[in-house]
Amino acid sequence: MKIIIINGPNLNLLGKRENDIYGDASFVEFFTRLQKKNESISLSQFQSNIEGEIIDKLQEVGYSYDGIILNAAAYTHTSIGIGDVVKAISTPVVEVHISNTFAREEFRHHSFISPSAKGIILGFGLQGYELALKSFLISE
Ligand code: DQA
Repeated sequence: MKIIIINGPNLNLLGKRENDIYGDASFVEFFTRLQKKNESISLSQFQSNIEGEIIDKLQEVGYSYDGIILNAAAYTHTSIGIGDVVKAISTPVVEVHISNTFAREEFRHHSFISPSAKGIILGFGLQGYELALKSFLISE
């Protein structure tokens, strides 16, 4: 089973970015632990601050992987291009947000990804990525 986590802008700063909202852990440390817990799965991750690179990655993996866990961060609320590619690809996408975006500013309440996502997990911190991964494992 091949699953990829794709993270958008500023998520490379986890652990040193607004810790009250996003927590103290770095994504790389969290991801290393997640990989160790799930050694039977081919689990990879990709992060970019550049919209086009996220679209390129979604096109690259979106017809062959078994699942995509996508936190497009701020692009969630702005990017028609990312919304369109999620609609175009055949691999199911679970949308994840670390924070509960509905409890925050109104501009975070809209997502261009949600209409095409298999499901959405938000507000559970980094655990949301693990829950998304589990959702693919139980639906195998
Ligand atoms: C986020 C929520 C977005 O609104 C924000 O722009 C992010 C992170 C989250 O994981 O909670 O960068 O996607």
